[in-house]
Order: sequence, then C-alpha cells, then structure tokens
Amino acid sequence: MARILLTGGAGYIASHTAVALVERGHHVVLLDNFANSERDVPDRLRRLTGKLFPVIEADIRDVKAVTDAMQAFPVDGVIHFAALKAVGESEADPLLYYDMNIVGTIRLFEAMQQANVRRLVFSSSATVYGQPDHSPILEDAPTRVNNIYGRTKLVMEDLIRDLARTGKLLSAASLRYFNPVGAHPSAMIGETPSGVPNNLMPYITQVATGERPHLNVFGNDYDTPDGTGVRDYIHVMDLAHAHALAVEHIIAQDVSLTVNLGTGVGISVLELVHAFERATGRKIPLNIAPRRPGDVTSYYANPAMAEAILGWKAKLNVDDMCRDAWRWQAKRAGINDV
Ligand code: NAD
Ligand code: WQD
Repeated sequence: MARILLTGGAGYIASHTAVALVERGHHVVLLDNFANSERDVPDRLRRLTGKLFPVIEADIRDVKAVTDAMQAFPVDGVIHFAALKAVGESEADPLLYYDMNIVGTIRLFEAMQQANVRRLVFSSSATVYGQPDHSPILEDAPTRVNNIYGRTKLVMEDLIRDLARTGKLLSAASLRYFNPVGAHPSAMIGETPSGVPNNLMPYITQVATGERPHLNVFGNDYDTPDGTGVRDYIHVMDLAHAHALAVEHIIAQDVSLTVNLGTGVGISVLELVHAFERATGRKIPLNIAPRRPGDVTSYYANPAMAEAILGWKAKLNVDDMCRDAWRWQAKRAGINDV
C-alpha cells in the first residue's frame, strides 16, 4: 500500500487513475490548479470511492507550495499528469507550452528533490512518434514530433531519463498513451473539454446529444482501408489500471522505462462512428471535411512491453469505450434514456 501524489489530479486521466489506485488499496493525494478541470471532481471522487482525498490547490510551477504539500503528505511517488495538451494551442502559444509543461516539470522535480521524493510515473504521449514508418509501433521506433506539444513531451522524457541515469530519480516510467477515450462506467467522472472539442470521441458524443449538428470527418482520402485516419483508442479505465501497475512497479524496483499504452488495434474514424452508433443507437450525421493540418495517417501500438513488464493488457473494447463515453456525455446533457 503506497501513498501517491497525482499532479493534475482533478483532470481526465488522473481522476480515473485515482479510482484505480484506491481500488488497489493505495492512498491518493491530488494536486491541481484547476486550469482545465472542474472544482467538484474531488467531491465526485469521494462519492464514487467512499474515500476522502487530500486536495492541494497549487500550480506545479510553485516550488514552495508543492514542496510544502509533499512535506505535509509524505508520498512514495508522484504520477505527473499536469500539463497543457492542445496541439493547436501549442503552435499558437509556444511559450505558454514551454512554460507550463517544461518549466512546470522542472519546478515539480525541484520540489520532489527538496521533499526527497524520487519515484515518478510520467504522462507521455504516442504523439512523440509522429507518423511512424509502420504500425504496430514499438518503443524503440524513431521519435519525430511535428508540433510543440509533442516536443514538450520529448524534452520531458529526456529530462526524466537524465535524472534517472544520474540517480536523482531512483525509478521512473514514461507512459506513452495512444488515444484515451471513454469514462468511468458510473458516469460520475469523465472528460470535460472546454469549448469545441478537438478530439474525435468528445465531438461524436456532443453530436449525439444534439449540441453539434454533425461530425466533420477530417479527410477521407488517406491511404487507409476506408480513407479515414486510423488510431489506437484506449479506454481510460484500462489506462488508469496501467498507472496503478506502473506505480507499483517503480516503487518495488529501481528502474527506468518507457512504455506504450495502447490496445494494439487500429480503428478508423468511420469505424469509431459506426461502433458508437451500434453501442448507443444514436445516429451521427457526417460531413466530409478537408484533412486537418498536422494529422498523421495511421498509427497503433505494439503493447507487448507493457504486458511483459507490468503484466498489463487492455481489456475493454471499442463498444465499451463508446458506451461509457456516451453515458457520461448523456448524463451531462440531462438525457435519461441511456
Ligand atoms: P486534463 O487537462 O484533463 O488534465 C490535466 C490537469 O492538469 C488538469 O486538471 C489541469 O487543471 C491540471 N494542470 C494543468 N497545468 C497545471 C499546472 N501548471 N499546475 C497544476 N495543475 C495543472 O488532461 P488529461 O487528458 O487528463 O491529460 C493528462 C496528461 O496526459 C497530460 O500530461 C497530457 O499531456 C497527457 N496525455 C493526454 C492524452 C489525451 O488524449 N487526453 C494523450 C496522451 C497524453
Ligand atoms: C483522431 C482522428 C482526426 C476530430 C490528439 C493529439 C495527441 C493526443 C491525443 C495528447 C484523426 C479525426 C478528429 C474531428 C475527425 N493528445 N477527427 N473529426 O489527432 O490522434 O491525437 O489527441 O497527447 O497528441 O494530437 O486524436 O481525437 O483529435 O483525432 O475526423 O472532429 O479523428 O483527423 O484522424 P489525434 P483526435
């Protein structure tokens, strides 16, 4: 049983990870500045799990506040989720992304050193692979980022490797997520994009509630079986479970690893839309639109390393992802026939 600090703890993936950690008997401390999350998330987590989580409202760039938090609640390790994550915004405001993601991470690590916390799990992203030469992608595939958000992830991965190599961190796991979707099956926590969603699944669910008239399919002339982009969608609860196993691994051993977290299955935009329609009985009107600049054609994970090292494998399929994403969005929209 460990005590773990989650930076960005009220966010989408962290809140689900908090549930997975509690289910495995761990204690969780949440730290967030609520820049991109709702303030009642800790309360919803309390109702969902029956546990009260210490919540620290702080910015990861505030070394004193974060050090104080880790001294008040001594932890065995940190899972570092806090970041900005919108690719378009990162290109529009590079300094904001370098500051929040890279400077923020350096400040967090300073606080960890001051509090002598030396075990870390880090939210990386499959975006570091850019357009790979082939899929499934192994962890030793070349990295080739094509946007500033992705570059911040690569810089942070390198920083973490250097800290592990020089003994500043005893252990570290960089987890390269593919495309997280869905929500906890209770529909008590989920993803809350602000404004128009950038990502496919939240856009689909908002079309299904009637908040948006149709889905723009960004290109149907890609070199894929149906012409639309292919991705490896992964249920957020599977992802959450992987974090619990990763944190147990890095607490048990002094190791440094970089691991893909995906299902290994590539799914096109149209396949996801059809799966959603099947799982929910809702029709999604489509509009074929131009390709979105910067999008890659196709990629999916080889998740064998996560299975070999962590004993983790995704269990939930695309129907589960669609059902749970829909339950969450329908509840928020006040639709009761789910
Ligand atoms: P999210 O925006 O829901 O969660 C991030 C949380 O961090 C938010 O609650 C936000 O308020 C908080 N935060 C941001 N800046 C902060 C700061 N300076 N100090 C304290 N808190 C701060 O995002 P998410 O989807 O849960 O993503 C979590 C992590 O996973 C991020 O690092 C993201 O880059 C990475 N990731 C996400 C995806 C995805 O598609 N969702 C894919 C790959 C990697
Ligand atoms: C998936 C597919 C789109 C919206 C992004 C980030 C990546 C990672 C996850 C954090 C693509 C198509 C989408 C729409 C569409 N984030 N699409 N209509 O682009 O794989 O990854 O989020 O690390 O860094 O780049 O995910 O969900 O935006 O798109 O047709 O309205 O859906 O073209 O083929 P993506 P996505």
